[in-house]
Amino acid sequence: QSNQFCDAGVGYPESTCGFSSSSSSKLLIKGGTVLNAHQQEVADVYVEDGIIVAVKPNIKVDEDVTLLDATGKYVMPGGIDPHTHLAMEFMGTETIDDFFSGQAAALAGGTTMHIDFVIPVNGSLVAGFEAYKKKAKKSCMNYGFHTAITKWDESVSREMEIMVKEKGINSFKFFMAYKGSLMISDELLLQGLERCKSLGALAMVHAENGDAVFEGQKRMIDLGITGPEGHALSRPPVLEGEATARAIRLAKFVNTPLYVVHVMSIDAMEEIARARKSGQKVIGEPVVSGLVLNDSGLWDPDFVTAAKQESSRTIFSSITFYQLYKYIEMYVMSPPIRESGHDKALQAALSTGVLQLVGTDHCTFNSTQKALGVDDFRKIPNGVNGIEERMHLVWDTMVESGQISVTDFVRITSTEWKGAILVGSDADIIIFNPNSSFEISASMHHSRTDTNVYDGRKGKGKVEVTIVGGRVVWQDDELKVVPGSGKYIEMPPFSYLFNGIDKADAKYLSSLQAPVKRYFTAS
Ligand code: URP
Ligand code: ZN
Ligand code: ZN
Ligand code: ZN
Repeated sequence: QSNQFCDAGVGYPESTCGFSSSSSSKLLIKGGTVLNAHQQEVADVYVEDGIIVAVKPNIKVDEDVTLLDATGKYVMPGGIDPHTHLAMEFMGTETIDDFFSGQAAALAGGTTMHIDFVIPVNGSLVAGFEAYKKKAKKSCMNYGFHTAITKWDESVSREMEIMVKEKGINSFKFFMAYKGSLMISDELLLQGLERCKSLGALAMVHAENGDAVFEGQKRMIDLGITGPEGHALSRPPVLEGEATARAIRLAKFVNTPLYVVHVMSIDAMEEIARARKSGQKVIGEPVVSGLVLNDSGLWDPDFVTAAKQESSRTIFSSITFYQLYKYIEMYVMSPPIRESGHDKALQAALSTGVLQLVGTDHCTFNSTQKALGVDDFRKIPNGVNGIEERMHLVWDTMVESGQISVTDFVRITSTEWKGAILVGSDADIIIFNPNSSFEISASMHHSRTDTNVYDGRKGKGKVEVTIVGGRVVWQDDELKVVPGSGKYIEMPPFSYLFNGIDKADAKYLSSLQAPVKRYFTAS
């Protein structure tokens, strides 16, 4: 009955999904179309003590049960955001959304679980984990952790085992960019991949060539381009493609599954497509910003006018007009939001299964923080919002355009990790009205940041109700969240992605024996 090793899932067993006893509510969601990753049916959903106990038509209940009418609406698992950064210290500051404000925003947008990244403390994974557990004390929804690996020695290798066997971590992220801070070498990546494989943990990469980015940044500064436009210009798609290809090939050499986070370009996507076609186990995660934004319209109109006047005076004859546009700090993230064309290609890749699930990389800084880089784009803290907007934007961009089905939507936003509306599942559920509409604005959103990269966007569909562990936390545009009610979800190692790895290893070893035998009989 459970989705535990859903064919397409990066998932983990349902039994580990917490939030069981925190509520004694009884809830009946009546008459909706229940959506799961592979099917839809009109049915009632009955929830008791935070657990789904029945999914079938015409459920009769006592009067003490809270009724929610879902007629004409979809009832689906709450979204799971596989990529967020809450309360992260980064680039000389800390993200403005912490585990409470970020999660509150998530719940208002129909996401009921997220997986954040533990950043090690002085290289120590366990210390980093303890620090993040503390940060997450105010959680109001379920969360899990990946862990970043930022250096390599015996103790890191040992701590990876502790993280997997004692702390419920089954994924590690390697940054191939951010030279001088988080970036790791190929040697470290290789060792990390080997270690991930032996522990049954999923290796994740931020794929950009950090050395080349460093050169690209110098190039911009030498040209006198210090504004935010220098950010995207200094790290073009080719550098994302290169690192993606390198990580994929190293993972192939080690024979371990790979998860490429925030796929932002055609270049990276095509490397993933090629690897998957060859049978390699590579997961590609586009993020909302890469799917729905492109760099047109990201330029400051005041500056564009000024730049036009400047260029008409031909002072800047050595720099193209394009480079003179002022890119707005708010959009600075890595890899950068690309020019038009990459967005549509990523959408197509998602709709055809080349890419599998959508994250946000929610990593917010307010305009004061973004202004740290006012004179030098290299100092602008990298990151954009999305945790509240993801479900709406993916629905509007992918389902309303006819690119994916409603059941695909559930797979891409939730089930690929674990979400499902099944008897025995935890009741993290949303009611989605496809005939209503949403509008995004920086003044109305629930994130603490004062800007929103999707400000002004409107579209079809609306998350009307969010239910966490059987409790209604979002209804009638009102949040009722309880700090401290969220639970940490442990994730066991050796997900389905590891099936067959040992067989492939055995085949490889026996293939080595043939030439070795030939060598000995010939000599
Ligand atoms: O710009 C970004 N993506 N900020 C968050 C850190 C990361 O690289 O994921
Ligand atoms: Zn499936
Ligand atoms: Zn990253
Ligand atoms: Zn990230």
